[in-house]
Amino acid sequence: MSQATNQSWGGRFSEPTDAFVARFTASVSFDQRLAAQDIQGSIAHATMLARVGVLSDEERDAIIDGLTEIQGEITRGEFEWSVPLEDVHMNIEARLTQKIGITGKKLHTGRSRNDQIATDIRLFMRDAIDSIDAELTRLREGMIGLAEREADTIMPGFTHLQTAQPVTFGHHLLAWQEMLARDHERLFDTRKRVNVMPLGAAALAGTTYPIDRHVTAELLGFSLPAENSLDAVSDRDFAIEFASFASILLMHLSRMSEELVLWTSAQFDFIDLPDRFCTGSSIMPQKKNPDVPELVRGKTGRVYGHLMSLLTLMKSQPLAYNKDNQEDKEPLFDTVDTVLDCLKAFADMVPAIEPKKESMFEAARRGFSTATDLADYLVRKGVAFRDAHEIVGQSVAFGLKEKKDLSEMTLEELQQFSDTIEADVFDVLTLEGSVAARNHIGGTAPDQVRAAASRALEALKAHREAQ
Ligand code: ARG
Repeated sequence: MSQATNQSWGGRFSEPTDAFVARFTASVSFDQRLAAQDIQGSIAHATMLARVGVLSDEERDAIIDGLTEIQGEITRGEFEWSVPLEDVHMNIEARLTQKIGITGKKLHTGRSRNDQIATDIRLFMRDAIDSIDAELTRLREGMIGLAEREADTIMPGFTHLQTAQPVTFGHHLLAWQEMLARDHERLFDTRKRVNVMPLGAAALAGTTYPIDRHVTAELLGFSLPAENSLDAVSDRDFAIEFASFASILLMHLSRMSEELVLWTSAQFDFIDLPDRFCTGSSIMPQKKNPDVPELVRGKTGRVYGHLMSLLTLMKSQPLAYNKDNQEDKEPLFDTVDTVLDCLKAFADMVPAIEPKKESMFEAARRGFSTATDLADYLVRKGVAFRDAHEIVGQSVAFGLKEKKDLSEMTLEELQQFSDTIEADVFDVLTLEGSVAARNHIGGTAPDQVRAAASRALEALKAHREAQ
């Protein structure tokens, strides 16, 4: 092979590729990550070619044996990747030809790098999605388990980050869980569109060989061959869908992270994170920083960036394949890695959260969190809601002046604002009474939280089994 003219397409060229251009256009530095999928796809392609009579059985076997050996070389780190050979496809094919001679050059019959790369990425994405599914499941199971254990733990619920009404910590965790359940559905949904096979589209128009795309699809576990050859080589919707799944997931993880960071602060003091998830400060000896949730919160930005890169990459591209598409890999790979790392961090950390129950309870007790309960109490006794709102507002103003929560006031003090208030008011002014009263599906009552946790676990199991 000439130094800088690529052997697989150098035929019509009269001068070698400029050295910078060779480096600029090469993708092998990052697409070598697709080697296993590339080999898997090539083995299926060769098997199909032999089945339809384009390759002999001997040729097929030589190709499969050669590729299997190459896979071993790559796994052992012995494979020498070459930049002049441009990409993962031509590196592997060149090595195959080196090993088995002319038969290696037959592997590319009825195929193009355009349908080959589209197939490789889809195989890679399918594996990635399955790994993400496993981590997401582990995280959801851990979260549901913690919610169940903390079904009776009372904390303040917030709106506008101001104490609103008491909720149970279990209920809060199940709210997180709902976010993740939707993410999980989006992941499974994306997988359906990932699992379609481009192979056979060749460069863009299909191929003149009598290929059987159903055979290849079946060998590779794809649900079906892509319907249109032009679309098959150019479509990267699945990558954008995956990046949007990832962006929404990271948005959720960033919200959880933000709460964890707040809760570990001395000002909130709601939870402790075990030391193994935190780091210290080199200057302030007292510090224990919640680095893991902070970093997850920070990584959200790069994932949003990848979504924007992919959307912009595909914008205005004419059919069919364009070299632009080579730019899809790095954002995709980094999205996969980031999602897997963040999910692992959360799946390890969430079950280890140590709630500081007294501190949470105390915070819920401050801030008049049962004010709505008092209003509802008055309404049940026949007061119109707007009037009840006004009465409670006056009681709160009194409490602020006297530094007393509603439940700490005497009956006489409360009765200054309404003579409808009777001794039974204290049943609703306690935090336990307040949460227990929200006893309907979706409510924060401990019994509802326990029921919701077991439904969530069932739904998780059923959903995964249905895939
Ligand atoms: N490296 C290319 C990519 O990542 C695959 C080869 C595309 N085909 C071509 N004729 N340049 O998309």
